[in-house]
Amino acid sequence: MKALVLLALLALAVPATAQVRILETTPHPDDPMAGPQLADPIVDAPPIQLSLFQRADEKLGDDKFQPEIGQAGKDVIWVPTPDSLVKAMLTVAEVRPDDYVVDLGAGDGKIAIAAGRDFGARAHGIEYNPEMVALAQRNAQRAGVAGKVTFQQGDIFETDFSSATVVTMYLLPSLNLKLRDTILKMKPGTRVVSHAFSMGDWDPERTINTDDATGYFWIVPANVEGRWAFEVGNDRFAAELKQTYQVLDLPKGSPLREGRLRGTGISLTRANGQELAGSVNGDQMVGRGWVATRIKPAS
Ligand SMILES: C[S@@+](CC[C@H](N)C(=O)[O-])C[C@H]1O[C@@H](n2cnc3c(N)ncnc32)[C@H](O)[C@@H]1O
Repeated sequence: MKALVLLALLALAVPATAQVRILETTPHPDDPMAGPQLADPIVDAPPIQLSLFQRADEKLGDDKFQPEIGQAGKDVIWVPTPDSLVKAMLTVAEVRPDDYVVDLGAGDGKIAIAAGRDFGARAHGIEYNPEMVALAQRNAQRAGVAGKVTFQQGDIFETDFSSATVVTMYLLPSLNLKLRDTILKMKPGTRVVSHAFSMGDWDPERTINTDDATGYFWIVPANVEGRWAFEVGNDRFAAELKQTYQVLDLPKGSPLREGRLRGTGISLTRANGQELAGSVNGDQMVGRGWVATRIKPAS
């Protein structure tokens, strides 16, 4: 099993290329045209030779420590994300200087360093292997971003990363699932990007395909479950909202036909076809010409 996991990670991590090209990013609503469904890469991974993944001129590590691709980690081995996908992940997540990016299982620090160096964000990496942490810190220094890109030795399952505005990861499907509840409790609007692996039945907003690899992008949705009183122009009505992640589940007979969240942004379609776009702030929703108040939390 361990060998299969290694092959799967390696199969998804082809060598870095200098040129960055996002081939496509696929919106992923509940739409039959949505991007590729996630095959189980552990099962599908073809056997690949380690040497294929390292360019002859590529230097891993430094004179103090040379990590090896495939070396053991606590819950998953180390395989670096290709440069092209690092850039694509941070681009799709729209990382800005006011963001705080946390990479879970930071390896040599390349995602956090790119967030600081290329996107101007503050960034932090949590990594279990102390030698990798020290290497990541030296890499941040060499990249001139040690002031805003930090690393700590720690277990991602025991470290608080709730203040992140962007979370990145390259782990395993089972580890993503283990993190999912914690991530869903983060501030609505938090962006999450995973190299290669899904989050179970939480559909991504976008699928990111580069020449090298695939990533998935989610936005933590606001919680809107409960009963809401709507005022739309002169209309008054109440609606019970349930949600599966970012998608609202509206029963037959509801005054709302469809609904979807994008962080704190909400778009609703009334049964009469009127579109309502707005934003959620706790127990209030506000849009142009309409407001709603939560009158009963989810039971
Ligand atoms: C596949 S590598 C990804 C490295 C980096 N994020 C990247 O994409 O280039 C996964 C990393 O997670 C680390 N790791 C494994 N289990 C961990 C845990 N429980 N807590 C923190 N780091 C862990 C490994 O040592 C390894 O460096």
